[in-house]
Amino acid sequence: SFEQSLRPQNLKQYIGQDQVKKNLEIFIQAAKLRQETLDHVLLYGPPGLGKTTLAAIIANEMGVQMRTTAGPAIERPGDLAAILTALEPGDVLFIDEIHRLPRTIEEVLYPAMEDFCLDIVIGKGPSARSVRLDLPPFTLVGATTRAGSLSAPLRDRFGVLSRLEYYTEAQLTDIVIRTAEVLDTEIEDDAAIEVARRSRGTPRIANRLLRRVRDFAQVKGNGHIHNELANEALELLQVDRLGLDHIDHKLLIGIIEKFRGGPVGLETIAATIGEEAHTIEDVYEPYLLQIGFLQRTPRGRVVTDLVYRHFQLEVPKIE
Ligand code: ADE
Repeated sequence: SFEQSLRPQNLKQYIGQDQVKKNLEIFIQAAKLRQETLDHVLLYGPPGLGKTTLAAIIANEMGVQMRTTAGPAIERPGDLAAILTALEPGDVLFIDEIHRLPRTIEEVLYPAMEDFCLDIVIGKGPSARSVRLDLPPFTLVGATTRAGSLSAPLRDRFGVLSRLEYYTEAQLTDIVIRTAEVLDTEIEDDAAIEVARRSRGTPRIANRLLRRVRDFAQVKGNGHIHNELANEALELLQVDRLGLDHIDHKLLIGIIEKFRGGPVGLETIAATIGEEAHTIEDVYEPYLLQIGFLQRTPRGRVVTDLVYRHFQLEVPKIE
């Protein structure tokens, strides 16, 4: 589809994550030379950094199909069995949010990953018996925002563990320029830099902001994205100079105003600002930690002096 064509199709087109890319390139080439399936791959890191895109690229580079599912979508062993038995030899099975797989499903997955077979129980009560089904060899690509939430036995069955990192401003600028080309939109370099700067190290955000700025350029200008227009649009979108949005503001200002800058527990913050604790932990917090706005301590979250400066508030004196 058109949406799909926005995404890079191979490793060469994929910008950033250089270490991950370099390693995958070798593992893919080696598997192809040996005419084997690629070992199972676990991709982990904050949302929006390209885990799904990379999984699709792995399948593409291996010349196989990708089947996609997600941890919460697999409720019973039969759900997994249906997916696994429908695979073609060599296929990539992509399981997003793999940390949310029920434990009972994990146990079905172990022999599937290790020996490409499936133990299923047929019947009930005294006549129940277990049969072993052979599966086509496949590559499991798992994606998670929290590798720590995976059980050790599941984590240990992945041969390749790749952590995705936040992108640099330069890499995001390249992504914005590439996406603008695909969208057939002209953008000045300084405008692309501005979009990149406000994208919290995250391509998904960069591409979303680019689309909104492009809308703005189309309606308010002549479709061409220059710096002033980009800045104006980004102000209207309520994304500040560091890419922090309304919810980041609520979170940080909430800790300052209600808890004197912390420490304060995650659940307490969540209740105060009306967001889910796991959303804060998986989506908002990682970037705030990365830029040094937030610190995790044994007693809870603390905002740093950088936050007071960013909001032009007086930095409190140590009592
Ligand atoms: N679009 C989204 N993520 C990308 C990436 N890492 N490289 C190129 N284009 C992208």
